[in-house]
Amino acid sequence: MKDIYGRTIDYLRISVTDKCNLRCKYCMPAEGVPCVAHKDVLTLEEIARVAKVMAGMGLRKVRLTGGEPLVRKNITELLRQLHAIPGIEHLALTTNGVRLSEMLPELIEAGLDHVNISIDALDREVFERVAGSDRLQEVLDGIDAAYAKGLAVKLNCVPVRELNPEEPVKLAGMAKDRKIDVRFIELMPIGQGRLYTGIPTGDLLKQLEDIYGKAEELPYDGEGPAKYYALPGFAGRIGFISPISHKFCTDCNRLRLTAEGRLKLCLYYKDGIDLRELLRNNVSDDQLQAAVRDALAQKPKEHSFGKEDMRGTEQKRMNQIGG
Ligand code: 5AD
Ligand code: SF4
Repeated sequence: MKDIYGRTIDYLRISVTDKCNLRCKYCMPAEGVPCVAHKDVLTLEEIARVAKVMAGMGLRKVRLTGGEPLVRKNITELLRQLHAIPGIEHLALTTNGVRLSEMLPELIEAGLDHVNISIDALDREVFERVAGSDRLQEVLDGIDAAYAKGLAVKLNCVPVRELNPEEPVKLAGMAKDRKIDVRFIELMPIGQGRLYTGIPTGDLLKQLEDIYGKAEELPYDGEGPAKYYALPGFAGRIGFISPISHKFCTDCNRLRLTAEGRLKLCLYYKDGIDLRELLRNNVSDDQLQAAVRDALAQKPKEHSFGKEDMRGTEQKRMNQIGG
């Protein structure tokens, strides 16, 4: 799959549910959100069919996201079905880690090979303040279990001035003795994110260097939007995903499928196509492929975070888009 800017698209992020068992302040409002009706959410079979059709067009990597993917029933069965699709070489998961350690054996058995765990604090009280729930220990157990099982593990932290300003430096320490990548994601002004102030990559890098020593920039690894650095004596890398301060759209390799079956072309824009409607009208695989191809031709060149003109932008929250 190539888009009109010559980018190869071989990666699909699938949001399997908009529900979550945490309430991170910059992501979901504390009072809760109206949840999507069950009938509007794609079934496992529908998700697997989309992946299979796209694998026939060059899809190589699938990531399950949410909300929180591990709260969806039969998620292991979905992984198993995806694992059986020829062409799909990598199966990844982005999770908040709360249910990870208990579910890990079945997930690995089903074919999971990469896991990204979101963690915004190492201090128990700060974690609870950010995430709305006292679950830090479960998340830490999940990280330990995934690392012990030999999965590729990345940690994602969103540094926010009003919420966890002291935590990024501590979290970076998680990459010291273990080969775990710790990544910092700039807060995007999507949904609740608009209410807070992200800490820019440059400020953070300076804080880290003051404590751990000079960071050496590593060459681009060809995978995704993160820019990585090595800190002296660290086993894992420190990564920065900086949609606001450093645009990475020229290397974009992805599409997104929402829980309701919209194929989204860019995190930032609401454009996309309704695959659910097609799936439920019994269209053929060829027709599905043609629809994906049409959509791909409309993939935007880049996001426009920071621009005044908000026309056509995504109005949904991150838990509905999958991050
Ligand atoms: N900006 C950046 N990242 C966000 N996430 C949720 N909301 C935002 C936002 N506004 C992150 C979560 C998680 C991933 C799925 O998306 O922290 O790491
Ligand atoms: Fe791709 Fe859109 Fe993300 Fe840019 S913002 S990297 S175009 S998905």
